[in-house]
Amino acid sequence: MTASIIYEKLGLVNTREMFQKAMEGRYAVPAYNFNNMEQLQAILIGCVQSASPVILQVSGSAREYADAVMMPYMVEGAVAMARNMGSNIPIALHLDHGNTFELAKECIDSGFSSVMIDGSHHSFEDNIRLTAEVVEYAHKKGVTVEGELGVLAGVEDEVSSAVSHYTQPEEVEEFVSKTGADSLAISIGTSHGAHKFKLKPGEEPPSLRFDILEEIEKRLPGYPIVLHGASSVSPEHVAMINQFGGNLESAVGIPAVQLRRAAQSAVCKINIDSDGRLAMTAIIRKIFSEKPSEFDPRKYLGPARTELIELIKAKNEDVLGSAGKA
Ligand code: G3H
Ligand code: 13P
Ligand code: ZN
Repeated sequence: MTASIIYEKLGLVNTREMFQKAMEGRYAVPAYNFNNMEQLQAILIGCVQSASPVILQVSGSAREYADAVMMPYMVEGAVAMARNMGSNIPIALHLDHGNTFELAKECIDSGFSSVMIDGSHHSFEDNIRLTAEVVEYAHKKGVTVEGELGVLAGVEDEVSSAVSHYTQPEEVEEFVSKTGADSLAISIGTSHGAHKFKLKPGEEPPSLRFDILEEIEKRLPGYPIVLHGASSVSPEHVAMINQFGGNLESAVGIPAVQLRRAAQSAVCKINIDSDGRLAMTAIIRKIFSEKPSEFDPRKYLGPARTELIELIKAKNEDVLGSAGKA
């Protein structure tokens, strides 16, 4: 790597070696989304304490929320915090669901080590064109690129689709060879948000489409696959939220056992946002309900951060298999 690699100055790495090791070791690297200091600290502390590589993941709207100029400095400070804890875990900063070349370029130029360009809502040809354009720019700067084929259902600030379209395995080789993308997000039945399935009472969530994943693995041997929409939606956190004034009836996620199976395959990156949001909200609701006179943010954001640290350690150890791999 040359001295012009911007993200190295922030103490970051791209995802290439992380994914190679995850493929060989049959685990997945966690990609946790964050918007603020407490989430950023919790992700890094949880990953330091479980000795896991980590991808710090920021959507376009999260970057605006935290301030696009401030964001790289926040991450630089958080990396310094991890190193001060005596940890040398690999840390990447990744743009989640980038939707334009300009946004990806801005992120690359400000210190992101990895970007996703999500052209999955475009035609196959336009998706290839946009992704290839980002790859060409990113690779010159040592930045890795995630593309996407197939559409996930679910609603987030910037990601919204009423229905999912599974990835078509016959498209993946052409997409990867024409774009040069370093990893590929696929749609095999996960979805964004906390309401992933509409289940009747007593009904189990349907299985992910492992047959599609296996077909993709055959066509792209040794190539890193990414799973979005992979929160498990803890029933304990949902119950706590509902107990303390919330309304998240029928929230349900991807069973951990299915994610464990995916993590042992070519899936090298698993995206988790909603689970962290639920953990923090559950604790904050409980505190507000039990101590209505509390108004010091540290007294509710601090315990919310602690809950998130525990969630992250448990995910790395029990679901992704990334604990101890840094
Ligand atoms: O998949 C999207 C992520 O969960 C980020 O969502 O746009 O609400 O920050 P956001
Ligand atoms: P969840 O909503 O399941 O946490 O998915 C997050 C995600 O895919 C971020 O890109
Ligand atoms: Zn996503």
